[in-house]
Amino acid sequence: MRAVDIIRKKRDGGRLDAAEIAWMVHGIASGEVPDYQWSALLMAIVLNDMDASETAQLTDAMMRSGSILDLSNLEAPKVDKHSTGGVGDKTSLILAPIAAAAGLCVPMVSGRGLGHTGGTLDKLESIPGFRVDLDLSEARSVLERLGLVMIGQTAELAPADRFLYALRDATATVESIPLIAASILSKKLAEGIDALVLDVKTGDGAFLPQLEDSRQLARAMCNIGASLGKAVSALISSMEQPLGNAVGNSLEVAECLEVLRGRGPSDLIELSLELTAEMLVLGKQARSREEGLAISQRSIDDGCALERFRRLIEAQGGDPRVVDEPDRLPTAEHAVEIRARRSGIVSRVAARAIGHATMLIGAGRSRVDSRIDPAAGVVLLRKVGDEVEENEPLCRILYNRSTHLAEARELIANAFSIADQVPSPSPLIVERLGSNEERT
Ligand code: URA
Repeated sequence: MRAVDIIRKKRDGGRLDAAEIAWMVHGIASGEVPDYQWSALLMAIVLNDMDASETAQLTDAMMRSGSILDLSNLEAPKVDKHSTGGVGDKTSLILAPIAAAAGLCVPMVSGRGLGHTGGTLDKLESIPGFRVDLDLSEARSVLERLGLVMIGQTAELAPADRFLYALRDATATVESIPLIAASILSKKLAEGIDALVLDVKTGDGAFLPQLEDSRQLARAMCNIGASLGKAVSALISSMEQPLGNAVGNSLEVAECLEVLRGRGPSDLIELSLELTAEMLVLGKQARSREEGLAISQRSIDDGCALERFRRLIEAQGGDPRVVDEPDRLPTAEHAVEIRARRSGIVSRVAARAIGHATMLIGAGRSRVDSRIDPAAGVVLLRKVGDEVEENEPLCRILYNRSTHLAEARELIANAFSIADQVPSPSPLIVERLGSNEERT
């Protein structure tokens, strides 16, 4: 085969077959296909798209470019969740222990925050001592004991994605539904899972803000699951305002502990339980969404989920005392409040601006090598639909670094809109999709 023929075929609107796709992906590791030819193919894919079967074949080839975890010795159904990323999106830390306590095996490989979005690994690392860099044999041992493990991407899992993502970043070819879908699913399916629940965000703070784009991405990933024999379903959820009240790493861990104790913000509880229920249904531990919700709620009420999280922290080198004493999490030295300019009802809390502002005060990264401040963040005191009087606080900014504080304050102040009327309620879960079918 010759790369130039494959590029030409896609350039001219043709359909690549499984052998051509596998050969190109294999060529990354073997060196047979240089960067410039892959770059040309990526641009041809952006311009001419891939159909469902090409996308599935690309995912399969990328997944097979490295190791695929063999978890067949573990009896429990292996199910994970992936979110396309948002602001205050901390459901992984809640649902993984609930799902494990309810009988699933959750081998969760997560990412770091970049730009305005947060990342699970950064949140976990705000727990003193917590290690996300376990090697695969350490991870397997934690998984065997606890039914869950939470680690970062390793060099062994889907290495083709790392190479392709770097090229896409440098060649303006990130924005393609088949490339995004294959990138996400190749990494997730390399975890050796049977089923996957996707939380595809839509709205202001989402990676893809337009609902139609989120829908297409969700549909593409469900179709890949169907083609590769994995149960994949998706919830499309709103990222118009931050999820929960806390945005920033240790603040978010503390909020997750609240939820695992049966308290906490209602939107965060709702989405976490809905995602867990879907995981339980796909993993055949619940016959229906309602039963899944009841099981999830029970493992919060009886303390099993919180206990599982405590054991996870201990198993991964963290200080388990944070569970009962959240004051042991890093705290910021300074705080400042943003106050309402007028009385009324909060009609908007723009997620992207809040995410961007928290990044500026050190809670996130503007570049992959930026250093995070685990304690920095924002706590929302009012959310959409809440009443506020003039000069009452809307949120509190917690910070150690003041270099970009003025800019962050302005962004946050402008992120809030206050109106005279209650805004029409918009649903948190916008749509549900299963493999090849829409379910709303
Ligand atoms: N997240 C990924 O893992 N890959 C993409 O291409 C986009 C978002």
